[in-house]
Amino acid sequence: MLTQLLRRLLPFRPPKRELHTLTSVDAYARWATSYPPNAHNALMQVEERAMLSLMLPLDGKTVLDLACGTGRYGLLAWDRGAKMVIGVDNSPDMLRANSLSCKVLAGVTAIPLPVDSVDVILCGLALGHEKQLDVALAEIGRVLRKGGYALVSDFHPFMFLSGARRTFQASDGSTYAVEHYPHLYGDYHRAAWAANLLIEQVVEPHLDMETNGTVASAPTKATEAPIVIVYRLFKP
Ligand SMILES: C[S@@+](CC[C@H](N)C(=O)[O-])C[C@H]1O[C@@H](n2cnc3c(N)ncnc32)[C@H](O)[C@@H]1O
Repeated sequence: MLTQLLRRLLPFRPPKRELHTLTSVDAYARWATSYPPNAHNALMQVEERAMLSLMLPLDGKTVLDLACGTGRYGLLAWDRGAKMVIGVDNSPDMLRANSLSCKVLAGVTAIPLPVDSVDVILCGLALGHEKQLDVALAEIGRVLRKGGYALVSDFHPFMFLSGARRTFQASDGSTYAVEHYPHLYGDYHRAAWAANLLIEQVVEPHLDMETNGTVASAPTKATEAPIVIVYRLFKP
């Protein structure tokens, strides 16, 4: 009763504050059990459609799902006829929640695989969590076989630089941001060049508000900025 009265007299406006940002490992430790291995939000649907638009056949290939999380792209590679699928991630909790049979706890900057050992690398929405983009691309270039390719998607740097954050709601009800480093096209270009990788294709899809999560063919007023960027990198 007293609380209700006080609320009426003193309308409560919480002060605007920055979201608490967790390291990637801390964030995915809290997120893993509610992170399904499919495109479970509009951003991921747009991203996955763009990844699939650049994907070359996977049948008979050895595929590395790099920063595999709960295994979305590894499972997709099995469905598309891959001969072998390896998952690598630096979150023990995401790996535990992942049904791939071959999975390794490791970072994108130290991939525990030999030189020239995989045909295809699929890396979904992860390199923005890694500060050292140049080291990650050098590792991708090292483990890919000649003639192989990598598909890499990232949260678009325009989004981050306009103030958008990668957030999730933990089981305690709190919303957290996840550590993120915006890598510009120029950063990818330089790192790819140094790693002897050619940027073959780039797509920058927009979120189409009308159809909720499909790739808009052209930007509309509501969706002027692309939300993700997807690269196809070729090892000559
Ligand atoms: C947004 S989730 C994406 C998971 C999966 N690739 C997908 O697309 O569904 C990002 C994943 O990257 C992993 N990750 C972040 N930084 C990493 C790093 N430096 N090395 C390895 N994995 C990393 C996280 O643990 C998490 O599983």
